[in-house]
Amino acid sequence: MTRHTPRAIIVIFGATGDLANRKLYPSLYRLYRNHKLSDHFAVVGVARRPLTNEDFRNNIKKSIADFQDDPIDHDAFAAHFHYNPFDAQHLSEYQKLDNFINQLDDKHQADGNRLFYMAMAPNFFGPIAANLKSQGLTDNRGWSRLVIEKPFGHNYETAQQLNEQIGQAFSEDQIYRIDHYLGKQMVQNIEIVRFANAMFEPLWNNQYIANVQITSSEVLGVEERGRYYDESGALRDMVQNHMLQIVSLLAMEPPAKLHPDEVRYEKIKVLRSLRQLEEKDVNAYFVRGQYDQGEIAGKAVDSYRDSNGVASDSNTETFVAGKFMIDNFRWAGVPFYVRTGKRMAKKATEIVIQFKDLPINLYKDKGDTIDPNLLVIRIQPDEGITMHLNAKKTDYETTSTPIAMHYNKADQNTESPEAYEVLIKDCLNGDSTSFVHSDEVSLSWKFVDVISKVWMNEKADFPNYQSGTNGPTQATELLAQDGFHWWEIN
Ligand code: BG6
Repeated sequence: MTRHTPRAIIVIFGATGDLANRKLYPSLYRLYRNHKLSDHFAVVGVARRPLTNEDFRNNIKKSIADFQDDPIDHDAFAAHFHYNPFDAQHLSEYQKLDNFINQLDDKHQADGNRLFYMAMAPNFFGPIAANLKSQGLTDNRGWSRLVIEKPFGHNYETAQQLNEQIGQAFSEDQIYRIDHYLGKQMVQNIEIVRFANAMFEPLWNNQYIANVQITSSEVLGVEERGRYYDESGALRDMVQNHMLQIVSLLAMEPPAKLHPDEVRYEKIKVLRSLRQLEEKDVNAYFVRGQYDQGEIAGKAVDSYRDSNGVASDSNTETFVAGKFMIDNFRWAGVPFYVRTGKRMAKKATEIVIQFKDLPINLYKDKGDTIDPNLLVIRIQPDEGITMHLNAKKTDYETTSTPIAMHYNKADQNTESPEAYEVLIKDCLNGDSTSFVHSDEVSLSWKFVDVISKVWMNEKADFPNYQSGTNGPTQATELLAQDGFHWWEIN
């Protein structure tokens, strides 16, 4: 049974923004509906727009309109929300905000606990954090914590600056850096599959595993985010964070305990063991793509360069495939391939662990090939686990055929909590296991920066894949040169 979160005032900067409306309010609602939140909570919505409380609460109710059939009073939920118009550049506004939080704390008896959630443009993260400290908002009676959304910097240098800025106001154990992939049920399941089963851990190394493949493909293009995305690209948007986080969860050593420090320490060790690329190696390990026009679900779609906010000769990648080598005793020689892109054939995130071939095939004389064993962890949309084995063909002969054993989360008939729901709950509970440590941020930027630098200086031959496909041919070649191929995703 999950306990109630502690009492707290949640202050959301960027309260009228897309993230707040699409993710944070519905997640808070689901926690409330599922009796996971303490009754003693209030949310202060902070943003520039001059809204009244009533306007704000109407927005909240709109954001949870999908839950109309629940036997929950939406007005009672919305009554926990209060609006505070705010200009982040004026110090006097921080004192007003402090007083407002104190009043709400009295009203809701929130024990003086404060969660500051930065859900707005990243250039404000550092200055707001500094002002919260200098204006005394962190000198509260209870705990105070800071939640930071990505992008966490644009490269190693800017990430360091941001770490230093917020580090002056909040200590590392008060900072919760969100990577929403860490809140996904099946990403959290990696740890359980590995460390709660006797049958995988002995095989989880370079003696038995041939390669690991992580694919996160999206059908959507950049939609309305062209301006942000054209400065970012898939490498910064997906690989530096989500993909590298999955790699570290798959590759880490068993932690001594399930304590946030222990788990994050093991993940950091993986990032430290990554083979650092030199500029001359980049194109042998990583390939990039950019989508052209094409067809999705029978409809013609535009190219990336035709999207709003994107330069007509943009050199930004919307697809990346790459190979990480982890140079430690467990993983030496095992490639971890990742692939992610927009406007691909399917929306799916999957991990495939490919085991090594058997030393001999006893069934060769009967004309049977033996497929390698695969363990597939399906992160989304179809959550589950599949094991690919070989078994007897139903026949008079003793011949072999590939079979698949499935665990489908959907068969359990229980609703999976949303990633943000899990992460907000963890943060209120003070559990930082599924949040990103500053060392993880720094190490992953260091790795990725070498690739960005080479790609920025070399003009790519874009566009190089059609919308609605699996990406450019270079991604296939990347594995073929090692004697492997991408397994088809579900
Ligand atoms: C975000 C990226 O972090 O993750 C987006 O900025 C991407 O570009 C999204 O679409 C993918 O998340 P999910 O949960 O839909 O796989």
